[in-house]
Amino acid sequence: MSVNPYSPTELFDSISKHEDFLMLDVRNEKDFSRFKVEGPELCHMQNVPYFDFMETEDACVKKVKENKSIRVVCAQEGSAKYVCEILERRGFNVKGYLEGGIKSWGNVLVPKTVFKDSNCEIIQFIRPGKASCSYALIKDKEMMLFDPSRNIQFYLDYAKNRGCKIIRTFETHLQADYIAGSRLISENTGAEFIGNENDFKGAKFTYKAVNDNETFSFSDGAPIVRAIHTPGHTPGSACYVIDEKFVVSGDTIFIRSVGRPDLGGKAEEWAVLLFNTLNNLKKWDKNLQILPGHFMNWEEANKDLVFSKSLDEILQINKGIFDIDNEKDFIKFIKENMRQQPEEYAKIRLVNANLTEVDDEAAETLDLGKNECAATQYAKEKGLKK
Ligand SMILES: [Fe+2]
Repeated sequence: MSVNPYSPTELFDSISKHEDFLMLDVRNEKDFSRFKVEGPELCHMQNVPYFDFMETEDACVKKVKENKSIRVVCAQEGSAKYVCEILERRGFNVKGYLEGGIKSWGNVLVPKTVFKDSNCEIIQFIRPGKASCSYALIKDKEMMLFDPSRNIQFYLDYAKNRGCKIIRTFETHLQADYIAGSRLISENTGAEFIGNENDFKGAKFTYKAVNDNETFSFSDGAPIVRAIHTPGHTPGSACYVIDEKFVVSGDTIFIRSVGRPDLGGKAEEWAVLLFNTLNNLKKWDKNLQILPGHFMNWEEANKDLVFSKSLDEILQINKGIFDIDNEKDFIKFIKENMRQQPEEYAKIRLVNANLTEVDDEAAETLDLGKNECAATQYAKEKGLKK
């Protein structure tokens, strides 16, 4: 009897295709509650820790819903394999265990084409485990990246398969919720690292400090990338406008909500910055297509599973936030929605500025888990979301 592994990409495909299966997570309850497999249409999930299987096999087997095929996941691979073997022996329809365990789910990137014409292409890389998006802008044999994650081999392979050289890697801000890949990509490829000085001043690596309205192009010209300084989520937050049609908005605005300004411990000060940024943003071309750094849930994706909406739509969806018309009420709104940030964030910022080093295993652990970057996780309850 042998059980087979399945890859995180296969898992994402089967979730996207609405395949009917049971996701059986055999990690302990604490780890399961902190972070689990999520996706567009994943309905059947069960947590039965593997050590319960070891102690009370019969009782655990009885708990497992029998009428579905079963995909098992654990922290690494071993315990999922162990549970698969038990279930197979007991006659269940076992699909296998997730290769690399839950961490491989946390790191997987799924490329989706946002836009393509004869001149250029925009790709959105969805990271389901973090509810994050990074981007590539491709023209001929050159590629620019925006907010790549630490799974840098993926981006290097992607560029190689496309026959592209990565020429620039932009950061929308000093990330707190995940370990950014730009520094290592820059070191590996010679690509220019672009970031705003208000966030990256003091960072221990070479970067090009971007100015408000500065533009960047490819070797033979368009499309043009224009930077806009949009402080608030962080003092150095920037949005990057592609060809005056798309905006890589980082954590400044999302499809639902805006980037929280309290992560740096200066909630009032940064809330004022954000208030002014949001007011400026209302004057932008409403047809601009926003490409956000995060999503809150899968309902925001379009039918092709791409996360993007026009600025006009986003202003409507977040009317409750954008309609606040004075600083005082905006600060009040931010404070009402404030919640603790994960304790890892302080360390992640230091790693992203290269001011501390962590080994691979520590980096994996720091980097795992869903983001906490939106100002209004509880906005729904407060009636602010549509
Ligand atoms: Fe974030």
